[in-house]
Amino acid sequence: MSSALFSPISFRGLTLPNRIVVSPMCQYASVNGSATDWHLMHLGSLSMGAAGLVMVEMTNVALQGRISPRCAALCSDENEAALKRVIDFCRTYGVAKLGIQLAHAGRKGSQQPPAEGGKPLTQEQGAWQTVAPSAIAYGEGWPTPHALTRDEIRQVIADHVRAVQRAQHLGFDVVEMHGAHGYLVHQFLSPLSNRRTDEYGGSLENRMRFALETFAAMRAAWPAEKPMGIRVSATDWVDGGWSPDEAVVFGRELKAIGCDYVDTSSGGLDPRQKIPLAPGYQAPFAARIRSEAGIATMSVGLIDKPEQAEQIIASGQADLVVLARGALYDPRWAWHAAEALGAETQYAPKYRVCHPSLRPELFPHRRKPA
Ligand SMILES: Cc1cc2nc3c(=O)[nH]c(=O)nc-3n(C[C@H](O)[C@H](O)[C@H](O)COP(=O)(O)O)c2cc1C
Repeated sequence: MSSALFSPISFRGLTLPNRIVVSPMCQYASVNGSATDWHLMHLGSLSMGAAGLVMVEMTNVALQGRISPRCAALCSDENEAALKRVIDFCRTYGVAKLGIQLAHAGRKGSQQPPAEGGKPLTQEQGAWQTVAPSAIAYGEGWPTPHALTRDEIRQVIADHVRAVQRAQHLGFDVVEMHGAHGYLVHQFLSPLSNRRTDEYGGSLENRMRFALETFAAMRAAWPAEKPMGIRVSATDWVDGGWSPDEAVVFGRELKAIGCDYVDTSSGGLDPRQKIPLAPGYQAPFAARIRSEAGIATMSVGLIDKPEQAEQIIASGQADLVVLARGALYDPRWAWHAAEALGAETQYAPKYRVCHPSLRPELFPHRRKPA
């Protein structure tokens, strides 16, 4: 039986051996934005063969752009050196390709890490001034962000470009712009958070301008043979907010400026959101963007069964599936999925000994005929 999930896919000069991606996941384990031993363990383990591509967590292009003081950044030589240690380890011992999600949290910055409450930081806790397209707080009890001036917008774009250059020094295979979950790019896209009256607000064309200018500048700084994509929220799940129709138009515009994929998520912009959670609930958005914008998509969200993942790829809803909590729960998910679907996948050489074909006593269907 041939598996769609375990068929290779190419973007520019990169070929992934299967359609499984480990989602970017904030670890709240950085110090001054720099990776620590935790990242060595976390990413090191995930790169052993769980997926074709492992994404490094939301990594912010400026310290002010972090969600919390424990979030990752890639804006100094120290940040770059700390991440180099982790990425070198993953490359030496692992087999997965490596991507990094670059971001700016905008008005959702200056929070405590979730394990400490996830509330806005107080002055005593080191709160910083957040920024956004407009001076509109995320919700009640949240600080009012400073509305970015045009010059400041240019600086934020330059910060994204500098982080892309650092990602290239580090040898990443993929860069992803974080345009989802209510962070800065999404704040510009949504009419709920963007009330600007200049060329960066108002019409859809104007609300997309910051994202498209930033993406184009990042793309120009990234080698032509390497893919660059974006994570997008397809809807705010709030009346009057960013919608799937707008996400389709955005997908087309992104494709025209060299975007290779849209990793399709949803929500995160407005605390009033009501999300109908169910297995694979975001896959229909990925399917729509894929067919109507004609761009490759990834689908994320409550995917954790091999047959479900296989169906999403085989039916053409998305080109890749992305697992977050499922990959934490089972860092060897891809090995187990391959076994369930009768497919083969890559193993890190040091772990090859556990492959089911080498243990036919425990995996009788693997026993070769006498
Ligand atoms: C611990 C944790 C950290 C996360 N951090 C990020 C992140 O850095 N960037 C991002 O786009 N999404 C982040 N998310 C969202 C996930 O990538 C994913 O979209 C979401 O968890 C739904 O997928 P799942 O059902 O497979 O967990 C995070 C989720 C978790 C559980």
